[in-house]
Amino acid sequence: MKQEGSLLFWLGRRYLWRYRWQIVIAFIFMMLEGSMFGFLSYMMKPMFDDVLVGGSRAALTWVGMAIFTIFMIRALSSIIQKVVLTRVSQKTVADIRNDLLAHLMQLDGSFHQKHGPGYLMQRIEGDVGAVSKVWSILITGTGRDVIALVSLFGVAIGMDWRWTLLALVGVPLMIAPTVLLQRYVRKYARRARDISAGLSTRLNEVFHGIVPIKLNRLEIYEANRYKALTKERIRTSVASSLGQSAIPGLIDVMSGIGILAVLLLGGGQIISGEKSVGDFMAFFTAIGLAFEPLRRLGAVSGTWQIAAASIERIKELLELEPELRDPPHPVPAPKGCPEIVLRDVELNYSESAVLRGTSFTAEAGKTTALVGASGAGKSTVFNVLTRLVDPDAGEVTIGGVRTDAMRLADLRGLFSVVSQDALLFEDSLRENILLGREDVPDERLDEVLEAAHVSDFVPRLPDGLDSRAGSRGSNLSGGQRQRVAIARALLRDTPILLLDEATSALDAASEQVVQAALDKLSVGRTTLVIAHRLSTIRNADKIVVMDAGHVVEEGTHDELIALGGAYARLHAMQFEDEQTV
Ligand SMILES: Nc1ncnc2c1ncn2[C@@H]1O[C@H](COP(=O)(O)OP(=O)(O)O)[C@@H](O)[C@H]1O
Ligand SMILES: [Mg+2]
Repeated sequence: MKQEGSLLFWLGRRYLWRYRWQIVIAFIFMMLEGSMFGFLSYMMKPMFDDVLVGGSRAALTWVGMAIFTIFMIRALSSIIQKVVLTRVSQKTVADIRNDLLAHLMQLDGSFHQKHGPGYLMQRIEGDVGAVSKVWSILITGTGRDVIALVSLFGVAIGMDWRWTLLALVGVPLMIAPTVLLQRYVRKYARRARDISAGLSTRLNEVFHGIVPIKLNRLEIYEANRYKALTKERIRTSVASSLGQSAIPGLIDVMSGIGILAVLLLGGGQIISGEKSVGDFMAFFTAIGLAFEPLRRLGAVSGTWQIAAASIERIKELLELEPELRDPPHPVPAPKGCPEIVLRDVELNYSESAVLRGTSFTAEAGKTTALVGASGAGKSTVFNVLTRLVDPDAGEVTIGGVRTDAMRLADLRGLFSVVSQDALLFEDSLRENILLGREDVPDERLDEVLEAAHVSDFVPRLPDGLDSRAGSRGSNLSGGQRQRVAIARALLRDTPILLLDEATSALDAASEQVVQAALDKLSVGRTTLVIAHRLSTIRNADKIVVMDAGHVVEEGTHDELIALGGAYARLHAMQFEDEQTV
């Protein structure tokens, strides 16, 4: 219970406080609506004692008018509070979703490695959706129900406090079962949310991997895995709704006991003339009207359990801090075209060492190539440079400034990265190149398109630059996607260029065009290039050969060939391959 209180407090302080005045207004109208229940039951007394039993025509008019007014006020206040609360509810849900997305994008790569896109999508859509349930409870009138209960019990006590106590004899019987039921609902609600996350993960994997799934004929396998989860979801949903509906059920039982007790005592008192029929009717109407709000409030506790399971998760996510953060006193990024130096960089992923004392210098404005077997740690060097991951030891400087002394945004603003597979968004080609920038003059854009060899293929597309790239760029070929990525990089015009196997996935003809575009891109920038095909880095100013996280050789192509070491062996191997192809 304490924990739930703190969840509610957290939600309130962080997301509701800013709408407090709107909530206060809604609450005032809720109270108005709720108190009308009390008035209504109270009107039963004059209606029976003065009009129906007393026979007064004058009373008939005013009692009738009063009852009509009560219904009018109820209708109006109900409309007003619903509209105000719906607005606040939609706004808070949007606030939480926006915060969550912004926050998740800040979290480290290791977090995203652990939690896939499907899982996170479910957190943002599903869990936040469940929170909006709390709101719908409020909107359907928890506040009004509480006030209604207070006013109804006020009337009931006014009529006869002993009867009221009798009506409530069943309450203590309910407490223990309710607490147990709440726990049960919470447990299944949590499970249901986990299963939902699992389902989205599956779907996400299926639709991303649709081609390999078809080729490996995994359709039935995948369908069965999905089916197993949906089955599990049915089970948990039914279990949770059983728990949820049992609480109002308990309230019914309690009410039955109460009414029986009152009828036995009160009926006797009226027969003996101790009480008027009006008293009894007002009391009975009050208690009768109290059932519905009571049942609804009982159901609220179940719905709250479900929402609490989601709020718990959202809170956990929002409280996660990225490890890779801006330094407290950031140093400005270096100006101009900088030199990059790695000194004794060590990096471990869990237990396995990936970089073991890597040191090398990439000179300003020159092209440095990283070569080595797959898994040698080349891409990891790029990740360390851009601070997607921090090394465990050693230091990395750019233009003499340690990478961890700069703001992350400043650091990453120094790089353009072109890797094996360019990420294109489901948008026009133009938007994919401009990426939201609006300050690019048309001449500059044309220049860039030309240099990146994008102009070579754009005229053949149906809508030119306004053609859609398709989901993940699927309307373009690999080489075309790479050229779009190069155009982006040209526009970014950063002092450092990182190329990670930018041409590896391409056929020979596309490779040539992309290579030509890359050569233009690297002019006047400090360029680091990882290449699988050694022919593409032959002209690099320096070649750094890596093996199992170490730098084993450095030099120009000719020097390394003359040395007759690891590079010469790699080269000989590739040369043989090319001969036999
Ligand atoms: N995020 C990661 N988590 C765990 N291990 C990783 C991660 N990234 C890379 N590795 C491991 O680090 C080693 C080097 O990877 P990488 O730098 O990508 O090599 P490459 O030289 O082929 O680019 C590999 O053995 C890889 O399995
Ligand atoms: Mg790699």
